[in-house]
Amino acid sequence: MKDSRLSGLYKLSIAERISALQRQGWLSAADAERLKNGVQVLSPVAADKITENVVGVFGLPFSIAPNFLINGEDRMVPLVVEEPSIVAALSGAARLARKTGGFEACCDESLLAGQIHVTGSTDPAAAVDSLRAAKDSVLEHANAVHPRLVKRGGGARDMEVRLLELPDGAPLIAVHLLVDTVDAMGANLVNTLCEAVAPRIADLCKGAAALRILSNLADRSIVTATVRFAVDDLGIDEFSGTKLRDAIILANDIASVDPHRAATHNKGVMNGVDALAIATGNDWRAIEAGAHAYAARDGQYRPLTRWKASATGDLVGEIAIPLKVGTVGGTLDANPAASLGLAITGTKSATDLALLMAAVGLAQNFAALRALVSSGIQKGHMKLHARSVAAAAGTPEADFEAVVAQLIDSGEVKSWKAREILDQLRATQVSQNAPMGTAAGKVILLGEHAAVYGRHALAVPVVDAVSASVQSSSGGMSLVIPAWGIARNLDYDNATGIDAAIGLILKRLQQPLRDYAIHVNSALPPGMGLGSSAAVAVAVTRAFCHYLDIDINDERVNEIAFDCEKLAHGTPSGVDNTISTYAKPMLFRNEGALQTQWLTLQEVPPLLIASSHETGLTGKQVAGVRQRYGRSPARYDAIFDEIDALSLAGAELLQARNYDELALLMNICHGLLNAIEVSTPQLEHIVALARQAGAAGAKLTGGGGGGSVVALCPANLARVQDALQQAGYRVMVLKQ
Ligand code: MEV
Repeated sequence: MKDSRLSGLYKLSIAERISALQRQGWLSAADAERLKNGVQVLSPVAADKITENVVGVFGLPFSIAPNFLINGEDRMVPLVVEEPSIVAALSGAARLARKTGGFEACCDESLLAGQIHVTGSTDPAAAVDSLRAAKDSVLEHANAVHPRLVKRGGGARDMEVRLLELPDGAPLIAVHLLVDTVDAMGANLVNTLCEAVAPRIADLCKGAAALRILSNLADRSIVTATVRFAVDDLGIDEFSGTKLRDAIILANDIASVDPHRAATHNKGVMNGVDALAIATGNDWRAIEAGAHAYAARDGQYRPLTRWKASATGDLVGEIAIPLKVGTVGGTLDANPAASLGLAITGTKSATDLALLMAAVGLAQNFAALRALVSSGIQKGHMKLHARSVAAAAGTPEADFEAVVAQLIDSGEVKSWKAREILDQLRATQVSQNAPMGTAAGKVILLGEHAAVYGRHALAVPVVDAVSASVQSSSGGMSLVIPAWGIARNLDYDNATGIDAAIGLILKRLQQPLRDYAIHVNSALPPGMGLGSSAAVAVAVTRAFCHYLDIDINDERVNEIAFDCEKLAHGTPSGVDNTISTYAKPMLFRNEGALQTQWLTLQEVPPLLIASSHETGLTGKQVAGVRQRYGRSPARYDAIFDEIDALSLAGAELLQARNYDELALLMNICHGLLNAIEVSTPQLEHIVALARQAGAAGAKLTGGGGGGSVVALCPANLARVQDALQQAGYRVMVLKQ
């Protein structure tokens, strides 16, 4: 059985969340891939086939609420909704409900009523008698219209008649055809049946059929769900469980006598119901109409839920809501995102989906009431929003709570503010931890991959991207890199990884392996093709020398960092450690040994780097290119020769500050890198966004297969930065 418990989802990247869902069996490998590449989204061409006058596709967040347990079964809930805190509230309520066995939900019947309204009957009582007498033949007629429905186990089940009066006193006969639509929501097929039997019905009534359409008041598809929360689990902060239980019951009572409050109460219910309905391709307007009409069924609009105390003092909640939903037909088949949402629910039938929806409505109502009667809704909203902003800004675990608190205090819960707070935190951490060593990152402007085949490449440094400090320690050998979420003790006996690299640095500096506390601040994300591992080696080497008063020149720092790189990457070219050490732009090639030609620039070029959400494994990309090179060496050599020429020309253009021409070469180079298959849909997306926002040139940088994009923006740099950040990518602008 699949487990729906997933904690800390909000702290993961989108790609990590997708992997977690795949690992726990909620997503197939193919669907996970689709989500990662964003290709589950309906295309404009497909949208144009669904409705009219299409000019594009409108996006909304597609989220997951884990932790649901319904009728003893784990369920994952896909949600499409833009309002913050709904998803978190649902996950939290579901987590709490698990403790007492989760939700119980049931549905006794699931019928959709088709209505035929007849007017003009001179003898309504006789009409009703005729209709009752003809019931079986009308049902037979209806079922003959849709034999496929009958074959699937559905069909018209019953006919009911109601006598009503129009405002002018004229009689109105409402005939209801009650149809089992099986797994379809069934609007179209019920409408077809209504239209087919309407002439017969009108004849039987000796009147005229005024309307022939389904009713969205789906009161023959009532779903109920119940839940019990242990009173001891209910408390938050200074609010005790008993106090919250009673306050929730009171809130419910208020809604039952005040329609103005009931509307808001039910809006909270529908926050969950609609989000799941949209995620599974269901008609949420139909569900909304039915829910509100049902809420007013006794003449006063009332809440859809009821909360009371159990005999043992626990809080017990119940929802009764009309839900006629579908798992086949409608836009489901046309909209790939809806099929994906449905697959995530793991639902077996339309009724099963309705049970899930009812439980989600009840959970959402509980979460809203609990927040309302304690700290209020705004505080929770703000906190959740601040958490997601802090997470999106790449806040490391160690700084997370501090950044969230400062964001809330500042009143500016925005990603720029989170980055500002992080920068300030880093600055204080560094000054507290001096003495220090610094190092540059690198960004390849032209020539990656071709450089592996002896061609030229052009790289510029990201100056002061990494700084490190060292102090002696009595608590073991420790390493903290807040930006990478690393805070742990090191083991010198490790043969690989960062532990081994730091041991190697001490050996090369001829120092005993004593205990030190190392703190590294990195503006470079790891695994993004920006030379972060070499930069850490250079910065830590320098920090040790500073702390231990060792006189060292750049050449020796470079050698040590190169040794560390060999440990990490096997046979590195030596580019990363070289540029990290000397922090100067360079043209280089490697034909057995690295040959460098330093460039002199009059200014820092107007470059920015955007990181994708995928780490690129350089080794894997190099191996892939090697394999394809083997299949077509002449063609690949021609591409590498072209890239070589781009790098040589690019170096001249860079020095001459001819950015427009250089940008052109970068764009060509990106096309060639795409040709050798090291780009990804996400890198293409970033490149396209950057160019659309005004970047003169944009290309992937480093090994590809994920990683980063570099954009040259002689004009519009701020606009490009903004566009990429808005799209959720992390952006670094080279320091001027
Ligand atoms: C906001 O989207 C929903 C709530 O207003 C529901 C309620 O008041 O019960 C919080």
